[in-house]
Amino acid sequence: VPPPKIAPSMLSSDFANLASEAKRMMECGADWLHMDVMDGHFVPNLTIGEPVIKSLRKHTTAFLDCHLMVTNPLDYVEPLAKAGASGFTFHLEAARDNWESLVKQIKAAGMQAGVSLKPGTSVTDVYPLVEGEHQVDMVLIMTVEPGFGGQNFMPEMMSKVKDLRNRYPNLDIEVDGGLGPATIEQAAKAGANCIVAGSSVFGSKDPAGVISLLRGHVLA
Ligand code: DX5
Ligand code: ZN
Repeated sequence: VPPPKIAPSMLSSDFANLASEAKRMMECGADWLHMDVMDGHFVPNLTIGEPVIKSLRKHTTAFLDCHLMVTNPLDYVEPLAKAGASGFTFHLEAARDNWESLVKQIKAAGMQAGVSLKPGTSVTDVYPLVEGEHQVDMVLIMTVEPGFGGQNFMPEMMSKVKDLRNRYPNLDIEVDGGLGPATIEQAAKAGANCIVAGSSVFGSKDPAGVISLLRGHVLA
């Protein structure tokens, strides 16, 4: 299993102080910063886009793990790469017909490529993207319906994580939604190594403690 990557979701941060929030998370031991890009169409919420990533990049060297909850991910590849995104994770549901060229372009633009599955999407649908010619670097298994922070973790998604970990021992497998001290054990045991956590980290008086607790479970 690849090393843990703990990725606080900046969706739960104070957007009016994004640079200092990012700095605070890195000082608390975060590996990545998870950036939720939504278009108000693929999901019923509108968050941040290329201008905000670009602004934040001027204030941090951190790995920006961008999660694209958008209907047309291809349109975002060039803008986000130029803005300084490090990872580009698109939703398979938005790229059924063009994922191959999408992955190729993400990598050509110098970013890591990830693919995400909504709770209703079967894990078998992602096998071709892991095994194909243009392989993704990471699979993100959503553990809530995408769109909002602060929702309850869906334990039934752990069968997808277990299946992927059995098949692909070296794959980065990320989980996103409802992760925190109460749910990390299940996710880590199933084989997830990249952990997104929004409300559990930002809502804590001891975010560094939460981050190290999450990491400890992945390493165990
Ligand atoms: C939801 C986003 C998540 C969200 C997680 O659509 O993809 O990244 O911010 O927040 P928590 O950890 O509060 O569930
Ligand atoms: Zn996310």
